[in-house]
Amino acid sequence: MSKFWSDIVHKLTPYIPGEQPKLSNLVKLNTNENPYGPSPKVIEALKAEAADTLRLYPDPNSDALKTAIADAYHLSTNQVFVGNGSDEVLAHVFQALLKHSKPLLFPDITYSFYPVYCGLYGIDYQTVPLAEDFSIDIDGYNRPNSGIIFPNPNAPTGIPLALAKIEQVLQSNPESVVVIDEAYVDFGTESAVGLIHQYPNLLVTQTLSKARSLAGLRVGYALGAPELIEALIRVKDSFNSYPIDRFASAGAIAAVQDVAYFEKTCSQVVATREALVQDLLTLDFEVLPSGANFIFAKHKSYDGAELTAKLRDHGIIVRHFKTPSRISPYLRITIGTDAQSKLLFKALSAILQ
Ligand SMILES: Cc1ncc(COP(=O)(O)O)c(C=O)c1O
Repeated sequence: MSKFWSDIVHKLTPYIPGEQPKLSNLVKLNTNENPYGPSPKVIEALKAEAADTLRLYPDPNSDALKTAIADAYHLSTNQVFVGNGSDEVLAHVFQALLKHSKPLLFPDITYSFYPVYCGLYGIDYQTVPLAEDFSIDIDGYNRPNSGIIFPNPNAPTGIPLALAKIEQVLQSNPESVVVIDEAYVDFGTESAVGLIHQYPNLLVTQTLSKARSLAGLRVGYALGAPELIEALIRVKDSFNSYPIDRFASAGAIAAVQDVAYFEKTCSQVVATREALVQDLLTLDFEVLPSGANFIFAKHKSYDGAELTAKLRDHGIIVRHFKTPSRISPYLRITIGTDAQSKLLFKALSAILQ
């Protein structure tokens, strides 16, 4: 608290990201990073960018990156917006498209940054409870609203929602922008990008942080009708002209274009996930169905907080959401390499003995 703070700062409840530990010998399964490094072509592109041209500002419109993304999704560049991670893209989405007279709707259990953006921008919102099985209950979105947002697959549950259900939400809410946050879509969930041509109220956000192994580079994007994209550009150009620096642009273009590497690493992660689920079932865990690079699991008798603390003693960090709710018994475990899964299995077997 300080007399120098503005009213809004006094009232903010900032987002708390998962721990980035200073110790390097931990098995880090807590923030949904990809266990494989980025494509070697990305590293080459970044090295080439370390040049005299760094004295110059980057392209404020990121045209080359937008073209690469548009080509990858068979869209036009005016259907693409790029930003410093999808968190920044989402921040602009909240301000540009989701602040209206009626409340914004999102699930009661979802990405915990959404209420934080609402606090920052003074957006009225209502949460819609997930169904008993933790899936998104689309009937709950048939109430008055000026916008809807949820991740697909949802976070932190990892549960995917079928495209037909997303279409139902779009059809029942033609006057609202419906944002599908596809941060984890490439790990086995159907993308809604193909619906963009049909639904002018659909905006899809994606990131290079997960499936393209570039959490450290900070690049995210939104795909949708040109009038939605224009709103985001207006906010961005009133905030920061250069969110994509020269490295981010060069690395992101190389990542988007190396489809073979992306597909190979995504299928490795999915295969490791499926094997880990089977292993956890043998240890009496219940695991929610996942279309993401993480799983949400609870043990039949052990508490989530206790297991998280004990795993840490074994040098393994996973994420536990402390706020008391029906997800408190669960651990969110990022999918690592097969070797990391083995270490996790060994540690859990020892703890549960
Ligand atoms: C559901 C969801 N959306 C968006 C993001 C933001 O990712 P980034 O800013 O790295 O693109 C995350 C990050 O973990 C996430 O879980």
